[in-house]
Amino acid sequence: MLSTSDIRFALLFIQLFSLYRETSSLKSMVIKVPEAVKSGDTVTLKCEYDLENVALYSIKWYWNDEEFYRYIPKESPPFKAFPVKLVNVDLSKSGANAVTLRGVHRQLTGDYKCEVSADGPLFHTDILVARMIVAELPHDDPIMSLRDTKVEIGKKIQVECFSASSDPEANLTWFINNKEAKDNNDFITIHPTKVEKDAMLELKSARSKIEILTNKSHFIQGVMTVRCVGSVYNLWHGSVENYIRDDSPKLAQVLGSTLSQSQLDPIFEHHGNNATWMKRVSNLNLFLCLMFSISRIVLR
Ligand SMILES: *[C@@H]1O[C@H](CO)[C@@H](O)[C@H](O)[C@H]1NC(C)=O
Ligand SMILES: *[C@@H]1O[C@H](CO)[C@@H](O)[C@H](O)[C@H]1NC(C)=O
Ligand SMILES: *[C@@H]1O[C@H](CO)[C@@H](O)[C@H](O)[C@H]1NC(C)=O
Repeated sequence: MLSTSDIRFALLFIQLFSLYRETSSLKSMVIKVPEAVKSGDTVTLKCEYDLENVALYSIKWYWNDEEFYRYIPKESPPFKAFPVKLVNVDLSKSGANAVTLRGVHRQLTGDYKCEVSADGPLFHTDILVARMIVAELPHDDPIMSLRDTKVEIGKKIQVECFSASSDPEANLTWFINNKEAKDNNDFITIHPTKVEKDAMLELKSARSKIEILTNKSHFIQGVMTVRCVGSVYNLWHGSVENYIRDDSPKLAQVLGSTLSQSQLDPIFEHHGNNATWMKRVSNLNLFLCLMFSISRIVLR
């Protein structure tokens, strides 16, 4: 037979167990906030949860720590928007599972929080946070600057890429003949991107420099294509490209297919030519000396 204390203990156990179940029920909560959006866009933030048969008491949305929207089904009207600077809630598209913001401003970059409370008697509450960046996109493609559009294989070239006025600054990526160029110390050096701030609009520009020690494999039928691609998340892409021609001396180009890389070096070729030329000169001197000596013997 069970004593009353046994029954009480069993009931307590069941209560504790159900409390635990309730705690875990809110764990299925999910917040859906885009990582980055374009300034001026209309954005819907979602909060999904499963209260497992307990009624919803309230949903509260915060930007950083400022509450801007609240939804309480038991109240009339159930929704309320609070004035938070630059936040513009579209009440017709907000409710128990989502809140919609109109024309988001760059300054609304920040942490968005969704707080869900289940109804009494426990009013269990859970909160989730997600960061959203409101980006200002560049108006134009990046600009490329290069000093030379011709190069002798074995020489270095420098190319710069500049992407103006965005927030955050654009990521710049380099491509040589449609293949992404990676800094590899030997042939390719990509200097760290310099970020410059435009004081007036508080926008940023990015400047990247690549140095290429040219080799034969950089040229396809005598042409190297250098492209710079700017991106701001997956919201914006812009690109610019230029062509650099192989300007190696013709001899080096002709012999290029059979000679090794070091012999391809145009400077080496020049030295080789000078050396043979010098040899010819000294052979001629020797010949003239000999002739002179012979003629002196003969004429004596
Ligand atoms: C030429 O440079 C590339 C890097 O851009 C490198 O991967 C390749 O090995 C080099 N080729 C030769 C023949 O040295
Ligand atoms: C730049 O690239 C990095 C690495 O891929 C990425 O984490 C970052 O979000 C990008 N930033 C922008 C502004 O696109
Ligand atoms: C010969 O060598 C000199 C330097 O020693 C160089 O200035 C010149 O360009 C070379 N000439 C040729 C034809 O390679």
